[in-house]
Amino acid sequence: MTTFVELSTKAKMPILGLGTWQSPIGKVRDAMKFAIDIGYRHFDCAYVYQNENEIGNAMEEKIEEGVVTREDLFVVSKLWCTFHEKSLVKEACQNTLAALKLAYLDLYLMHWPMGFKAGEELFPADENGMIIPSDTDFLDTWEAMEELVDAGLVKSIGLSNFSCEQIERLLKKPDLKYKPVNNQIESHPYLPQEELVNYCQSQEISVTAYCPLGAPNWPRGEDFCLLDDPKIKEIADKHSKTSAQVIETFVCVLSPFKVFDFELTKEEMETILSFKRRYRICSLSM
Ligand SMILES: NC(=O)c1ccc[n+]([C@@H]2O[C@H](COP(=O)([O-])OP(=O)(O)OC[C@H]3O[C@@H](n4cnc5c(N)ncnc54)[C@H](OP(=O)(O)O)[C@@H]3O)[C@@H](O)[C@H]2O)c1
Repeated sequence: MTTFVELSTKAKMPILGLGTWQSPIGKVRDAMKFAIDIGYRHFDCAYVYQNENEIGNAMEEKIEEGVVTREDLFVVSKLWCTFHEKSLVKEACQNTLAALKLAYLDLYLMHWPMGFKAGEELFPADENGMIIPSDTDFLDTWEAMEELVDAGLVKSIGLSNFSCEQIERLLKKPDLKYKPVNNQIESHPYLPQEELVNYCQSQEISVTAYCPLGAPNWPRGEDFCLLDDPKIKEIADKHSKTSAQVIETFVCVLSPFKVFDFELTKEEMETILSFKRRYRICSLSM
């Protein structure tokens, strides 16, 4: 069974990671400590989740207890959209590092390709509730992120929520210094994004799937019932597994990794790929 993916920098990223979105203050510290105790080493954080300080406390405690060393951990965080201006990128990264109590990040992602108006508000909106954009081009933001690698603040840099066209534009940047090592995207049976996954792999860009189970705690339409989908349930029953295990296996195979003790047949993969529901959970529709 595979446990790591080798990034184009040769760094090893554990395939399964703990996401920290919606992990509330007051609970995330214990969740992190428990996760470290049971063997999680890859942690997915972000400035916008507003819980990095507690996550940092948990990692610090576990390092002090001698349970893990910093080098055992693979810590990811993300540059929020209000910090896309070149002059804001380094301080944004330093703030995340200070909250996480780390000297460096293993991977720093541009959370979204589009920037928002700089300022205190995470989602600056106009009177109609529409986001006020920043006019910074993500190519310029990327240059500032490259400087973070040179300054030793991050080991590698990557993308999140980038489409094929946007990645291609970045890869064609004439003076590109560092290629993105990863693109973190929504991927689950109702939005597999297999074309994007294949494109990233053809460019040696690893893919991290988010919302693999369809973010069951996030509000959505009544027609979204991924964990109760009868076709998935049928496949799960055949393997004596849960629907969640079938979905995780499906998402891993797309990437393509084997992490569980059972495999889906070609027909089962095709059944799930044929759903074609194209249901996007993180649509940032505003
Ligand atoms: N880059 C981006 O823009 C972006 C966007 C969204 C997410 N992410 C990252 O991706 C991570 C994962 O996304 P996600 O949290 O939406 O993932 P998800 O795996 O789709 O949903 C996680 C939730 O599923 C529930 N769950 C776990 N196992 C289950 C099971 N066996 N049966 C039923 N429910 C189960 C848990 O609920 P309970 O906690 O109630 O047990 C958990 O909170 C996030 O935490 C974040 O780090 C990134």
